[in-house]
Amino acid sequence: MTSVVLGVSAGIAVYKSCELLRLFTESGHDVRVVPTRDALRFVGEPTWAALSGNPVTTEVWESVHEVPHVRIGQSADLVVVAPATADVLARAAHGMANDLLTNTLLTARCPVVFAPAMHTEMWEHPATRANVATLRERGAIVVEPAVGRLTGADTGPGRLPDPAEIFEVCRRVLAGPREDLAGRHVVVSAGGTREAIDPVRFIGNRSSGLQGYALARTAVARGAEVTLVAANVTLPDPAGAKVVRVESARQLREAVLAAAEHADAVVMAAAVADFRPVRQSDTKIKKSSAEPDPIHLVKNPDILAELGEVRRARREAYATRDAGGAAAAGGRETGDGPGAATQAPGDGPHPRVIVGFAAETDDVLANGRAKLERKGCDLLVVNQVGENLAFGTPDNAAVVLTAEGGSVEISRGPKEDLADVVWDLVVQRLA
Ligand code: CTP
Repeated sequence: MTSVVLGVSAGIAVYKSCELLRLFTESGHDVRVVPTRDALRFVGEPTWAALSGNPVTTEVWESVHEVPHVRIGQSADLVVVAPATADVLARAAHGMANDLLTNTLLTARCPVVFAPAMHTEMWEHPATRANVATLRERGAIVVEPAVGRLTGADTGPGRLPDPAEIFEVCRRVLAGPREDLAGRHVVVSAGGTREAIDPVRFIGNRSSGLQGYALARTAVARGAEVTLVAANVTLPDPAGAKVVRVESARQLREAVLAAAEHADAVVMAAAVADFRPVRQSDTKIKKSSAEPDPIHLVKNPDILAELGEVRRARREAYATRDAGGAAAAGGRETGDGPGAATQAPGDGPHPRVIVGFAAETDDVLANGRAKLERKGCDLLVVNQVGENLAFGTPDNAAVVLTAEGGSVEISRGPKEDLADVVWDLVVQRLA
C-alpha cells in the first residue's frame, strides 16, 4: 500500500483537503495527515483522524519513542501539502524544522507536491516567488493556484485547485516520472464556442470541454507549460495550466493564434461554430410578430486551417532564406506574409505539431482523412459522435490519423488515456 503524507497548513481552504484525503483513502492509499498547529483552527484533529484512520499530531514531542519527526518522512511514498500557505512555503524553502510538518519535509526522500492557497498579493510577493522558485529548483512540484474568488470579496490567482485536480497530479507523480514534455509549450483549446444572437441567446454546441481539459491536465503532468484556451467550460481549472477564457470563435481564434506563436504543439480539441449570425441584436429579440425574422449566418474563420496555413508560409519563408544563405546565427526572420515571426535556429517553424479533432457522425474515417488534408494538420483525432457518444461522457474512443497516411486506434477508455496517446504521438514528432 502506498504511504501518503498529507500536510495541511492554515488556510481557509483546509476544508477542501478533507475531500482530497477521501480521494486518497478511497483509492487504497494509507494517509497520514500532518497538520500545522494553526491548521487545526479550521478543521480539528478528530476529523483528520477519523477520515484517515491514523493518529494525527502536529508536534515532534508526541510518541517520541517512535521518532515521528524522522520516520513519517522517511517512510512516505509521497508528501503533498494542501493547502500550502505562504508561511509553510517559506519555512520549507529555508529548511526550517519547527513543527512535525517541516521536519517531515526535511526527512522525506520521496516526491513532494505543494498546492499553494493564499491571497493574490501574497502569492505574487517577491518573497513567495523566490521561495517557490527555490522549492521547484530542488525538485518539488509546486502546482499553480487556481484563479477565482478568494476568501473575501477579492478574486485572482490564489485559490486552492479543486481536490480532484490535486489528486490527479499526485496520482501521476506516484505512477512515476514521465517528463517527456518538459521544456515544451503546448496550447490546447477546449469546450465549445457560442455565437451570440442577442444578449441572451446564442448558437452553441454540446462540447463539455472534458477531452480538452484531460489533454491539458496530462500535458502538465508530463512537464509541459500549458496554455488552455477554454470556450464556455464549467469544469475546474486543471492545476498548473494557464487558462484563457473565451466565448466566441473569433475570440478563440485570437487567443489560440497568440499562444501558438511560440508553442511547440497546438491541439484544437474545441468545437468551433462554423457560422455566426451576421448581426447581433443589442437588445433581446421580442416575439412581437407572428413570423420571426430569419437569422442570416456568415462563416467563421477556420482556426485549425489557419494554423496550418501560417506554418506552411513560414516553412516556405525558411526554405527561401536557407536557399539564399541568409540564415543567421541566434535567430532568423521569416519575412512578411502570414505568421512572420522570429524563430530559434534549428527549431523549425512553430507550431511544430498541429493536432485537430474531428467529430463525425458517419463515414468517419473517409471524412477524417479528407479533413486532415484540407486543414494541413499533422494528426487528426477522429471520433464518432451522436447520442451518448463522446459529448459530456468521461470516456472516449478514437482513431488518430497521421499526415503520412497512418492510423492509431484508441479503444474506449478514460479521456485521460486518449490524451496520453495523443501526447505520445506529439512527443514522437517533436523528437
Ligand atoms: N475547427 C477550427 N475552426 C473552425 C471549425 C473547426 O479550428 N471554424 C477545428 C476544430 O477545433 C477541430 C477541427 O477543426 O479540431 C475539425 O472540426 P470539425 O467541426 O469536425 O470540422 P469542420 O471544419 O467544421 O468540418 P465539417 O463541419 O464540414 O465536418
